[in-house]
Amino acid sequence: MVTKSAERQKMIERTKAHIFVCTNKTEHECLQRMLFGASKLYADDVLTTKSGDLLFLLNVNSNVLYGIFRAKSNGRLNIVPEVWRGKYPYQVEVEPLGNIQTINDAKDILRKLGIEWHKPLNDSMTERLLALFTSRESEYLKQVMENKTWGLLTSEKVSTKRSDVVKSRAISELEEKPPLEATTLWDYPRQSYGKTPKGDNKYPGVTPAFVIWNLIQRYTDIGDLVLDPMAGSGTTLDVCKEEGRRCICYDIAPTRPDIIQNDSRKIPLEDDSVDMIFVDSPYGDNIRYNDHPDCIGKISSETETFYEELEKVIKECHRVLKPGKVIGWLIGDQWVKKKFTPVGFNVYQRLNKYFETVDVVCVVRRGQASHTALWYNRARRFNFFLRGFKYLFIMRKPSGKQSVKLEKRTVKWAYYNRNRVSSS
Ligand SMILES: C[S@@+](CC[C@H](N)C(=O)[O-])C[C@H]1O[C@@H](n2cnc3c(N)ncnc32)[C@H](O)[C@@H]1O
Repeated sequence: MVTKSAERQKMIERTKAHIFVCTNKTEHECLQRMLFGASKLYADDVLTTKSGDLLFLLNVNSNVLYGIFRAKSNGRLNIVPEVWRGKYPYQVEVEPLGNIQTINDAKDILRKLGIEWHKPLNDSMTERLLALFTSRESEYLKQVMENKTWGLLTSEKVSTKRSDVVKSRAISELEEKPPLEATTLWDYPRQSYGKTPKGDNKYPGVTPAFVIWNLIQRYTDIGDLVLDPMAGSGTTLDVCKEEGRRCICYDIAPTRPDIIQNDSRKIPLEDDSVDMIFVDSPYGDNIRYNDHPDCIGKISSETETFYEELEKVIKECHRVLKPGKVIGWLIGDQWVKKKFTPVGFNVYQRLNKYFETVDVVCVVRRGQASHTALWYNRARRFNFFLRGFKYLFIMRKPSGKQSVKLEKRTVKWAYYNRNRVSSS
């Protein structure tokens, strides 16, 4: 009898990787139709592409590499004959494996990785390419650019077995759930996970979906009601839906029909009615979310007004959350025009007036517009730091019992006096 894992192993062994090429003119059609094509020159390579193979798309004009895709069909002649005016008839249907990621300066990086993009990829090349897209350490890319890893990788004879492990890991990483975090340092390479997108990774300030997933696993049960009063592109909704949690999402400027238009300073829900709240609020006026005049993202976090308005949201969250239940608040600091603003500490002070702290988590910031070689250079040359993390404040609404206990707590002064005497 063939077991499931044996079947999977066979599938992994069979899986090959291919880089398809497009230009500025053809890229849109490739990504829109989820169809890659090639001319007669590359017919052999396309026809050996099998359903399930891992694919990448290189735009030779913009020098951007897109990945990872999976072939949905075998490579064939004329799947859609009329596309690209018949110039690229050897075609394959594709689907994205997780969120589509982009690598800039692709040709240079591929060259440094020893990958000749116009030739079929061998196992060793496939491994390096997958590491580029799936490695948890963005250090890898930096090392490639600094020529540090190249020697190591080329001198290494990569066995087929090892490359199968890398392929298998990459496929699982892209298909499956994120890890349940065990420490207070949370890092995940992509905005989303799994086969379906969570939120819209093009939305300014979109939340990494694994943050919400982790909170939901720890602090809610199936069927619980989760609230996101500043829902943006709806990442919380998508995560909750997949995990069987009910969810209400509001935003001042909804981006989709299942998000309700509402100003989060007044939440239309009953007292003590929701099981968990997640908020990824604006951090100031650094991002333009929308043009709504009541968007808190239009107020500078260098002003007191910003925190006063957020405190109104905090107060409402406290009112609607059930006692003993948890709110997770994601927020980052600001460094603009040589001035640091501790937005995180300031918001924490306000949260702390209403909630007890469960824990504080550091979420690694990835995919930031400023995370480019140019900005890394500037940060070093002009002696400043780029924002590398956000705070996730995990707070609990005191349950009735606990608050009474807190109020009645008396300090044992004798104990403190004794300490003072003995230490002097
Ligand atoms: C960081 S984004 C949220 C991102 C979201 N979690 C996602 O994954 O797409 C902050 C959101 O707060 C919303 N917002 C700002 N002021 C608001 C207000 N007064 N009431 C409700 N939403 C507001 C913005 O429109 C924006 O979508």
